[in-house]
Amino acid sequence: MTTRRDTSLGLLAVAGLAMLPGRAPAQGLPPTGLQPMQLPAPRDDFGMSLAQALKMRRSTRDFAPRPLPPLVLSELLWSAYGVNRPATADRTAPSWRHARETEIFAAMADGTWRYDPNAHRLLPHLAGDLRAQTGVQSYAGIAPLNLIYVSNADHLSGVPPQEQHRVAAADTGFIGQNVYLYCASEGLACVFRESMDQQRLARTLGLGETQFITFAQTVGYPKA
Ligand SMILES: Cc1cc2nc3c(=O)[nH]c(=O)nc-3n(C[C@H](O)[C@H](O)[C@H](O)COP(=O)(O)O)c2cc1C
Repeated sequence: MTTRRDTSLGLLAVAGLAMLPGRAPAQGLPPTGLQPMQLPAPRDDFGMSLAQALKMRRSTRDFAPRPLPPLVLSELLWSAYGVNRPATADRTAPSWRHARETEIFAAMADGTWRYDPNAHRLLPHLAGDLRAQTGVQSYAGIAPLNLIYVSNADHLSGVPPQEQHRVAAADTGFIGQNVYLYCASEGLACVFRESMDQQRLARTLGLGETQFITFAQTVGYPKA
């Protein structure tokens, strides 16, 4: 059985991958004491065929607490919204008029991190275990990873305010499906979620006035 301590140790192992110079905490948030995490390069080729992955794609809500190895975390985030055309820094998921308004926050046992696709690394955002707060269902606090999708209206200035959530939801949906397909092809469990206390979570994350949470996605190994 994997214990909470094993989970923490696994995450510390991830954090120990590469220590980069620290970064100032997000405005208004306390220093995290965490170091940026350089993710290993994704393999050039991974996963099952697209046809097989589509057959396996599903929502799963029973998770084991086992942490995700660094390579899995790396490939998951790259699949979600990584840079797939380095010459132009373009991404694995499309966005309205190339707005790239979505940021991915990764809530894990030791803290919440912000994915930096250009450097393919995780930047510390908040210390402590926020997983349970990312959802209303108990599995959110058990699974090793909850992705929180945050959109920034500053990047959607051409969209009328009442339309911004629609555009952001569409853009986030593509990312969510990338995650579903990666999980399917690697035998991981995941579920895309709307259910959460968005306002409370936004406050805890210290989001700015133009930032809003669209969805979350819980990822982990399926419970045996
Ligand atoms: C926009 C959206 C919001 C969702 N919100 C939740 C949610 O809050 N909680 C949850 O357990 N599942 C949620 N789901 C997952 C759906 O319930 C799931 O996709 C649906 O039951 C079909 O199951 P499948 O994904 O296995 O095909 C959501 C899916 C979408 C697309």
